[in-house]
Amino acid sequence: MPNYLVITGGSRGIGESTIACYLKQGWKVVNISRHPCSLAQVVNIHLDLSNPLLIEQQAESLIAAVSDANLICLVHNAGYYNRDTIESVLQDDLERTLNVSIVAPAMLNKIFIPQMQAGSSIIYIGSTLSEKAVPNAVSYVVSRHAIVGLMRATCQDLNGKYIHTACVCPGLTDTQMLRETMDQKTIDYFLGQKVIGKRLIDPAEIADVIYFCAKSPAINGAIIHANLGQVAD
Ligand SMILES: NC(=O)c1ccc[n+]([C@@H]2O[C@H](COP(=O)([O-])OP(=O)(O)OC[C@H]3O[C@@H](n4cnc5c(N)ncnc54)[C@H](OP(=O)(O)O)[C@@H]3O)[C@@H](O)[C@H]2O)c1
Repeated sequence: MPNYLVITGGSRGIGESTIACYLKQGWKVVNISRHPCSLAQVVNIHLDLSNPLLIEQQAESLIAAVSDANLICLVHNAGYYNRDTIESVLQDDLERTLNVSIVAPAMLNKIFIPQMQAGSSIIYIGSTLSEKAVPNAVSYVVSRHAIVGLMRATCQDLNGKYIHTACVCPGLTDTQMLRETMDQKTIDYFLGQKVIGKRLIDPAEIADVIYFCAKSPAINGAIIHANLGQVAD
């Protein structure tokens, strides 16, 4: 029976690199996002995760997609970075960010956990901002901190099921999200002042960390920072 990666946000960036990593290891892949992943052999399920009602409506097809699974690795990767402050934050933006990063993972867990055999895993993608804050990113910072809570609750509630969990926290990774939210001047500032090694992380490096966590049941309930040793403020 095949092992399955079920991942959200595999249409680009860290998600797409993670899919490439697992395909190389012989895993089957189900991607959940609004746009398809263009890599061959991926089963794409079209879903807007900002609307949790849609997830329940797709439950049957999601379960059917992994009906012959041995191990399942569920990676909650989809994310949305909104620029807002504690004074300007809009209810819509906060709800959308939390729906994609917190409510959708919780609903997907409910669907997939009954399908998971011992040795399966649930990997959350957090951020350096899961444990610190920066200005102008209140919805994102709140959602990234909440992911850590969801991961820790996952660990406690799945005690005895031998499904392990971790939160992988990337630093500055060279994806469209980074390029859309930081101009080159800001990137250069961070690389000069904050990032040991003075380079961006390749998304494939984050994919390797995710795969390592999935293959390592000893890692359970852990926050794994993958940020080149970013210098603390
Ligand atoms: N890049 C970094 O420096 C960095 C640093 C720390 C943490 N992270 C985290 O790593 C994860 C991946 O980031 P990335 O840099 O690869 O971002 P990205 O290139 O912007 O990709 C984000 C992915 O999330 C999916 N997504 C967004 N909104 C969605 C929605 N409403 N429904 C379904 N899917 C949705 C997108 O798919 P569709 O558009 O096709 O729906 C896309 O595949 C995110 O959780 C991000 O917060 C990134």
